[in-house]
Amino acid sequence: MSTKRGLFIMAVILNILEVFSAPENSIKPINSLPKGVSGCKRDDHLSECVQKGLQDMLKISKNGIPELNIMPVDPFVVRKATVQFENSLVQGKASVKNMKVIGLDNAVIEDSDFKINGKLTQYKGVIRLPYLKVEGSYKANIFINNNKISSSGEFNANLTDIVAKFDSTGEIYEKDGRNYIRFTSLNYEPTVGNMQLYANGLVPDENLNNALVELANENWRRAYQSLFSSTRPSWEPLIIKYFNSILEHVPWDLLLLEN
Ligand SMILES: *[C@@H]1O[C@H](CO)[C@@H](O)[C@H](O)[C@H]1NC(C)=O
Repeated sequence: MSTKRGLFIMAVILNILEVFSAPENSIKPINSLPKGVSGCKRDDHLSECVQKGLQDMLKISKNGIPELNIMPVDPFVVRKATVQFENSLVQGKASVKNMKVIGLDNAVIEDSDFKINGKLTQYKGVIRLPYLKVEGSYKANIFINNNKISSSGEFNANLTDIVAKFDSTGEIYEKDGRNYIRFTSLNYEPTVGNMQLYANGLVPDENLNNALVELANENWRRAYQSLFSSTRPSWEPLIIKYFNSILEHVPWDLLLLEN
């Protein structure tokens, strides 16, 4: 049973990105890209240019970009997020509140491969994050063999050497006489070099709580892959929605300069 507790904490931590309530739709199309970011030409250097554009975008997003409704990236604050998870042994629901994520600002994008084929696009690459620090509070109800366990408390985690290969597809579509791009799929498989986590309030007894935390720290690697996959349906559509809610204000002709 205690191992399952460990798994549960993992689920919360791994869902740091399940965050985005889509920005309001009151934002107008922009007339030019934010200062410090430029569009790309359709030539041999397109992939490099897209990579540089994203990297530049990330740099200026540190404190957010209000005209695009981009939230501050570092620290990245998640007011509330809920995740559901389920496998044959354990089911449950957890919500995190006031979660702060530090370190997204240091993301480096590498090995970009961007292709356009008519109205369809494909973008593959690698994102590296040297570290992430996460802290917040949580509440959870989990069921193990039909026994309900409720926990709440604070947690924090330190992750290092996160590497995510991603592969995405997109399409160019027309709205109000202008072209825009949106993601149609986004797959990625992050690996984590190391992770240390801590949570209080898992169980009332502090010694047992700390023993469970230790167990989680020793065992997360074994649970990681299955948790990542099983929680994917809760966060993947939200990430796509979030990126698309930004992109729908950025006309395609600002991104791809056809002259
Ligand atoms: C994470 O690092 C901070 C220092 O930056 C430390 O205070 C905290 O205890 C660490 N958390 C874990 C779970 O090791």
